[in-house]
Amino acid sequence: MLPILALALAAVVYVYVRNRKASNLPLPPGPKKLPVLGNILDLPTSFEWETYEEWGKKYNSDILHLNAAGINLIVLNSIKVTNDLLDKRSAIYSGRPGGVMVLELVGWNWLFLTMGYGDAWKERRRLFTRHFHSSGTSVHRPRETLFVRRLLAQLLDGPSKGLELTREMIGGITLSLAYGINIRPSNDPFIELAEHAITGLAESATPGLFLVDALPFLKYIPEGIPGAGFQKKARQWRELQQRFRTEPFERTVKDMADGTAQPSFVSEALDALEGVPDAKRRREVIRDTAGMFFAGGSDTTVSAIHTFILAMLRFPEIQAKAQEELDRVVTASRLPEYADEVDLPYVSAIVKEVLRWRPVTPFPFPHLLIEDDVYDGYHIPKGSIILANSWAMLRNEEDYPDPDAFKPERFLKDGKLDPSVRDPTTMAFGFGRRECPGKAMALASLWLTAASILHTFEIVKPLDKDGNPIEPDMKYSSSLVCHPIPFKCIIKPRSQEAERLVRAVADNTH
Ligand code: HEM
Repeated sequence: MLPILALALAAVVYVYVRNRKASNLPLPPGPKKLPVLGNILDLPTSFEWETYEEWGKKYNSDILHLNAAGINLIVLNSIKVTNDLLDKRSAIYSGRPGGVMVLELVGWNWLFLTMGYGDAWKERRRLFTRHFHSSGTSVHRPRETLFVRRLLAQLLDGPSKGLELTREMIGGITLSLAYGINIRPSNDPFIELAEHAITGLAESATPGLFLVDALPFLKYIPEGIPGAGFQKKARQWRELQQRFRTEPFERTVKDMADGTAQPSFVSEALDALEGVPDAKRRREVIRDTAGMFFAGGSDTTVSAIHTFILAMLRFPEIQAKAQEELDRVVTASRLPEYADEVDLPYVSAIVKEVLRWRPVTPFPFPHLLIEDDVYDGYHIPKGSIILANSWAMLRNEEDYPDPDAFKPERFLKDGKLDPSVRDPTTMAFGFGRRECPGKAMALASLWLTAASILHTFEIVKPLDKDGNPIEPDMKYSSSLVCHPIPFKCIIKPRSQEAERLVRAVADNTH
């Protein structure tokens, strides 16, 4: 182990010397740094966004500089600084940091989420967004509606399975829209494969979890040597990654050949390849871009839906107010549709508050600065990892007084959405050229799920053996995508009429 430590120290000293004093301007403020190690001993390992918000107050600055053993970290704590840098200067702030574990060892370097700013990323991102323009409403909305209605029927038979059923539904929507595969209502093998593969992605990409990210030469240590447990994990996750990359895509190709494929991103993109030169390479680009539907869209949207369920469980008076709006506008004779959205401002305000109150990604995926920059008299070194603190921005008291409270009313004025209140969706989905390209789809599925459940079901606390309601503990995980710690809830029909409506619609959609 001693030679490894000596090598580690040499690597850290090298990075320190290389990074020293590249400009006469000061770096942004931040906690005092130790020689070589920088702030590594002070860096929080969970709920970092909360600590970084406190440090912003302590150093009286919206922009902070930290150093993790030679790696520069820049934290942006306000919407102004974030817009100035990530939006207005997005040409140099749109890179992505590497990660030895996630990219090299587990092999997720083909996902455009993780790619650096360059031609490969641009080609995939363009292909992805073009599809949303062409099929966004004509294919996506009917498919989403179908899955949401199927969920309502499943809830009738599994009132305590809301968390699992909503997870399966979102997995089904993303895989169906990407590949057109017929997804089974439960225990679908493609969903199971995708879930396992993406767990490996999320864990291997979590900053600070694997020493090999800080000390890349450790990647050469073979599996089986004491201390190299990460190699075994990497091998298992890599296998799942490879199957996720190819298996659903190959199924679509087969379904297209058999003439049974449903319209999807893959079928549309492969159809457009007819007669195009370079088709083999482009086919691989299509295969890899399709992977982003589930990889980017599943766990994130599920987190928002689970927060919605938790908030309704915790604040029954808000649930009742939304139901009053739905009863008045939609009436008990039918289910909500996308066309109702403009007439249901309270439901839309709940969705905005869900995304603000417990941000899905308190830090969006980190950006990388690809050139030296100067901002507000500070030097920001090339290669800095940029962490935009969406959590702090979504709790800024000037925009959102009493930020801890769940208050959809903050977005309303005279019974309508108030355009003068800052829209949380401008912060909850990231920034600049890297802003989430699935935002419209995420908002659509979240809104329809919320409206449909509220219209036909009541979300209530289960009772313990003495007949007392079981309170949810309201705790969250601290990860790239944050989730409420699983909680118990009952989702039961609001009335017999609502139950009949759900069954009748479900019968018609099969
Ligand atoms: C509530 C749901 C969602 C949230 C909160 C969310 C949030 C985010 C965030 C914060 C980023 C990083 C942005 C940045 O780097 O500044 C991102 C990237 C991305 N998201 Fe989403 N997302 C959601 C749903 C979706 C859906 C449904 C899809 C696809 C169907 C999707 C696809 C992507 C892709 C492809 C990227 C990578 C963009 C790039 O690196 O160029 N997301 N998302």
